[in-house]
Amino acid sequence: MTGPLLLAEGVTKVFKTSRWPATPLRTVAIDDVSLRIEPGESVGIAGESGSGKSTLIGAFCGLVRPDRGSIQLRGKDVYRGRRFDRRAWRSMQLVFQDPYTSLNPAMTVEQNVAEPLRFWKRLDDAAARRAARELLELVGLGGTVAERRPASLSGGQRQRVSIARALAAEPELLLLDESVSALDVSVQAQILELLMRVRAERDLTQVLVSHDISVLQLVCDRVIVMQAGRIVEECSARDLTVEKVSEPYTRQLLEAVPTLRAPSAPLPQGD
Ligand SMILES: Nc1ncnc2c1ncn2[C@@H]1O[C@H](COP(=O)(O)OP(=O)(O)OP(=O)(O)O)[C@@H](O)[C@H]1O
Ligand SMILES: [Mg+2]
Repeated sequence: MTGPLLLAEGVTKVFKTSRWPATPLRTVAIDDVSLRIEPGESVGIAGESGSGKSTLIGAFCGLVRPDRGSIQLRGKDVYRGRRFDRRAWRSMQLVFQDPYTSLNPAMTVEQNVAEPLRFWKRLDDAAARRAARELLELVGLGGTVAERRPASLSGGQRQRVSIARALAAEPELLLLDESVSALDVSVQAQILELLMRVRAERDLTQVLVSHDISVLQLVCDRVIVMQAGRIVEECSARDLTVEKVSEPYTRQLLEAVPTLRAPSAPLPQGD
């Protein structure tokens, strides 16, 4: 296929919060944003809290319907009338910062991963359980973890389960919203290493949202920086240095974060 995987043009979202009897409050969460993502790319989105990062990726995958603009996946509009395209729904999977948001605490880890396999791939129980075990192996969770419930796992293990669950739909685009932000630095590095591995093995395109620009430097090809709902900088991850960036705001972000180094040897899986 030629052409971008995802093409967003002039996307705008205004939230209106009713404060009756006062004048309703308008928040322009994203303001005329255009972005092109090529197949196989890993794109980072940085920016301070409230700059519109989550709203933008929410708009990509159907969580937030934009007021204006268009979003196309492989040349096809994802919003069609009042509906969100079913293929796009499967093709774009979101992983949140807090794994509890997407995991069912009453189900075992295996059941959590098997559920989307039954739904998307129409597998019967036995096949879904087998495929769930394979996915759990892929994300580094072998042994007895499959039988446990999410509450008994560490934060890093839970995030691995969320990633396995997202991969169950066989997405083309993985959207990660601050997915490593709540983890301590060494576990964060292990999950980033996992993301780089599954991206290569599964031919995935990834969009990673993080307020920590050093995370994006490590795993992304290209980084965009948002401020007040707009893209203020777009550059290759290589050029994301204080010396090379053009925006004073990006420079501020770069100066504000501690440096995270790439692991020189494979890290143990013991998170
Ligand atoms: N459902 C909503 N209703 C009203 N306002 C909203 C809603 N969702 C987001 N906003 C507002 O839109 C703006 C952008 O929010 P968004 O969550 O996209 O920012 P963000 O960059 O992801 O921030 P953070 O880094 O804190 O997650 C903020 O001002 C936020 O308060
Ligand atoms: Mg957010």
